[in-house]
Amino acid sequence: MMEEIIKHKFFWDLYASIYDENRRHEEYLRNTNLNILKTYFRPGQTLIEIGCGTGIEAKEMIKHGCKVVLTDVSFEMLKVAKTKVGSNAQVINLPAEYIDSFKIKFDGAYSSFGVINCMTNVSSFFQKLHSILKPGSLFIASFINRWYWGDFLFFLFGITNYLKKRLNGWGHITLNGKEYDVIARFYSLNDIKRFSKSYFVIKKVYALPFLLPPAYLKPQERLPEKLFKLLQKLENLINYRFPFNYLGERIIVIFERI
Ligand SMILES: C[S@@+](CC[C@H](N)C(=O)[O-])C[C@H]1O[C@@H](n2cnc3c(N)ncnc32)[C@H](O)[C@@H]1O
Repeated sequence: MMEEIIKHKFFWDLYASIYDENRRHEEYLRNTNLNILKTYFRPGQTLIEIGCGTGIEAKEMIKHGCKVVLTDVSFEMLKVAKTKVGSNAQVINLPAEYIDSFKIKFDGAYSSFGVINCMTNVSSFFQKLHSILKPGSLFIASFINRWYWGDFLFFLFGITNYLKKRLNGWGHITLNGKEYDVIARFYSLNDIKRFSKSYFVIKKVYALPFLLPPAYLKPQERLPEKLFKLLQKLENLINYRFPFNYLGERIIVIFERI
């Protein structure tokens, strides 16, 4: 376990300085995720963010009126996050695997854009997270889905070949086309239900996205604006409905602590 955590630490340290620029094409998904966070979390609540990266969401949640404690395994990511949140938030270098080190209980937690896919033991993470949250509080997580319907289509048309990785259930993480010796694991909604069921109930599930193309195809650069907006409208009508919410590129899950 420790070896994997250290590999992730080095990889994300390396990525930190170019992360924000590299993820700009994800903005349409980020906005959806942030809208959901702001819908479920109320101003005045004290939240913990797990795997905060460069602090993009923490900055917005602080603006929303929440107190946020930012945690991440990567010191370099936290350094960038600190430039965004300044003295408005606590920033702590802590792997998710040790999240139960906190002695206080939070009003809620969130973890966005695939932090769960970096973890070594997701069941154990849910158990530890449970111990630092107040009963009835929410945990909102977005993660890369194992069963994304678009991968079959893109494979068939020769557009991408991510299908093999997803079907394997894991793959090496790539950065600017280079594959690194760090692993991401892909989980289905049913996997996540199994890992979390003793500690959390699932309140709602959203695809991120189902109909809109995924961020790695840079749809805002490729599609006419009118078509993109139309797809976005349709996306909002179906992304929380079964079976679409099981089959998105990523999935956002709203958990309630038991
Ligand atoms: C894809 S980035 C997502 C960052 C941020 N949540 C966002 O929305 O942009 C994954 C983040 O998870 C962090 N991470 C990876 N493994 C971790 C672990 N075991 N514990 C805590 N953070 C971890 C990385 O350092 C990185 O900042």
